[in-house]
Amino acid sequence: MHGGLLNRAARRGIDVEIRSVAGDAIDLDDQSVDAVISSLLLCTVADPGRVVAEIRRMLRPGGKYAFLEHVVAPEGSLLRRIQHGVRRPWTWVFEGCSCERDLAAVIHAAGFASVEIDQYRIRSPFLPANAQIAGTAIA
Ligand SMILES: C[S@@+](CC[C@H](N)C(=O)[O-])C[C@H]1O[C@@H](n2cnc3c(N)ncnc32)[C@H](O)[C@@H]1O
Repeated sequence: MHGGLLNRAARRGIDVEIRSVAGDAIDLDDQSVDAVISSLLLCTVADPGRVVAEIRRMLRPGGKYAFLEHVVAPEGSLLRRIQHGVRRPWTWVFEGCSCERDLAAVIHAAGFASVEIDQYRIRSPFLPANAQIAGTAIA
């Protein structure tokens, strides 16, 4: 996706620097960034708690983390059963992605000053990823 990102940014006159580091250990100083955005990331990383801790570490006090992620469906729901049933092939097909993570809990546990999360369900053919959250956390 890097080529597409660079092309689109160039067309809009936006200066972009891509740093190819894993989210588990980002080479930026503590409290050195104003904002972090993640979309559909924490489903795929090996340790989402560690990545969110990195985000929290980098943000300046008052800095904002904005996120959109697909998550585990409510306990007892049909969608939850489907997620559990397909979890292994889902991981193989989608490069290590888990459709069973309670990422709202991970973000709440990360020590942000405040967290606001909307939980909702989209309608897509990728049923196991239809339970989603979006929100912001303030460092
Ligand atoms: C489902 S894709 C989402 C791509 C894009 N963010 C989007 O919203 O379309 C998951 C992404 O997580 C990246 N990824 C996997 N492990 C990672 C890690 N440890 N640190 C940072 N990114 C990682 C993968 O390279 C992949 O691009």
